Amino acid sequence: MSLGSNPLRDPQDRRMPRIAGPCGLVLFGVTGDLARKKLMPAVYDLANRGLLPPGFALVGFARRDWDDEDFAQVVHDAVKEHSRTPFREETWRQLSEGFRFVRGQFDDGASFDRLRETVEELDEARGTSGNHAFYLSIPPESFPAVVGQLKDHGLTAGNGAAWRRVVIEKPFGHDLASARALNNVVSEVFPAESVFRIDHYLGKETVQNILAFRFANAMFEPVWNSNYVDHVQITMAEDIGIGGRAGYYDGIGAARDVVQNHLLQLMALIAMEDPASFEARNLRLEKEKVLSSVRIPDRLDLHTARGQYCAGWQGGQKVIGYLDEDDISDASNTETYAAIRLDIENRRWAGVPFYLRTGTRLGRRVTEVAVVFKRAPHLPFSQTSTEELGSNALVMRIQPDEGVTLRFGAKVPGTAMELRDVNMDFAYGGAFVESSPEAYERLILDVLLGDPPLFPRHQEVELSWKILDPIVDWWSTNGQPEGYSSGSWGPPSADEMLARDGRVWRRP
Ligand code: BG6
Repeated sequence: MSLGSNPLRDPQDRRMPRIAGPCGLVLFGVTGDLARKKLMPAVYDLANRGLLPPGFALVGFARRDWDDEDFAQVVHDAVKEHSRTPFREETWRQLSEGFRFVRGQFDDGASFDRLRETVEELDEARGTSGNHAFYLSIPPESFPAVVGQLKDHGLTAGNGAAWRRVVIEKPFGHDLASARALNNVVSEVFPAESVFRIDHYLGKETVQNILAFRFANAMFEPVWNSNYVDHVQITMAEDIGIGGRAGYYDGIGAARDVVQNHLLQLMALIAMEDPASFEARNLRLEKEKVLSSVRIPDRLDLHTARGQYCAGWQGGQKVIGYLDEDDISDASNTETYAAIRLDIENRRWAGVPFYLRTGTRLGRRVTEVAVVFKRAPHLPFSQTSTEELGSNALVMRIQPDEGVTLRFGAKVPGTAMELRDVNMDFAYGGAFVESSPEAYERLILDVLLGDPPLFPRHQEVELSWKILDPIVDWWSTNGQPEGYSSGSWGPPSADEMLARDGRVWRRP
């Protein structure tokens, strides 16, 4: 039985019916958290669903003194702990036959000679046909060395119709200038169509559903504009702290880590016009139009807020503040919370603020987009009847508890005309029997298929940095972030920022 005829593959699964052709994936950064928790399990889940070719190969490249068996054991442990689909010996046996490990260093040419030999051996032994993707799950400082070595060792171009692709994980630089420099390095070696930049939010089912929701239905688009929408709130809240990620997080902060990529992408999907098609160039074009139309606030002191978590209580446990975390200096002014008002200057959205916020150690883990509507122009009820009536809102629950909620006013049963907000809910769990694939399953499969719509191109990255750079620059010269208690909903200045506009943050 080949992996392609795996019984776990549901023939009705129209979401991912495409199976990758012969190919292999070379993973740089196999010892990292992302590889262990997301990438290796995603590869296994794809195999388990019958979406990988029978001879698929996975090559790990790292400094560790491992052989192929050690590497297989690492993947095995990661899969057992983190994969989404059940462990099946048959899948594992076939998949692991294609595992290879190359022990090497990024600055050592001989290591890349060995990598080339390994890839060639796989083409013979597994029939990978010269098709290989190089996944750089490594710090961006190492990109130039690795892509340079790939080029110098003849790994960036396959023979004939064979393809070579490179996958880059964020952060794509830490500002506009560094993003451009990074792009120059990569684009000297790989043509644009072979570069796949991962923003894993775009791989989430609920994020793709934004497009389905907006453009497959007749009833929402007519009110999706400044005539009806009062404002939009985009929230990504995490309840965890930075844990062992000080080395990455400190000096980067919440805005660069999350707003520059995930939140601006969400905003673009919510605000964009309908694309001519869902092909990459049309989708990217519409998102870029939104990002180009963004006006950042004139008064950054009034329309942005940033904070840093202090000690507090979370989930019944006492937790330490950011400055007490391991490897964080007492003077660190890295923000762990960021809130920003952006305006989109086009006909559809003029006058409708988009409020973006993200933070760690907040009250609850939740990502959502809330489109808050204007009040009805006239309420033919007594004032007391409508005291508890809020604004209509459409909330896209990205995670957890994935779904969509529509909030509207209804009559409270009884003899009086009393009105109150109620919710109408769509929940994925209740509506579909299929469980959603992990974002990385979808994105890795798309890389192997060479299908680019869910990958931002460099122009989007540049436009996002153009929005963010002035804000983080201003913050860096204007004192410390404001402290907020762990387990709360961020610093008071974030509430004040909305109160000035006569609005309040949702408490999801
Ligand atoms: C990553 C950020 O891009 O997204 C992390 O670097 C964050 O800081 C993570 O924790 C959150 O991803 P998800 O899918 O759990 O919302």
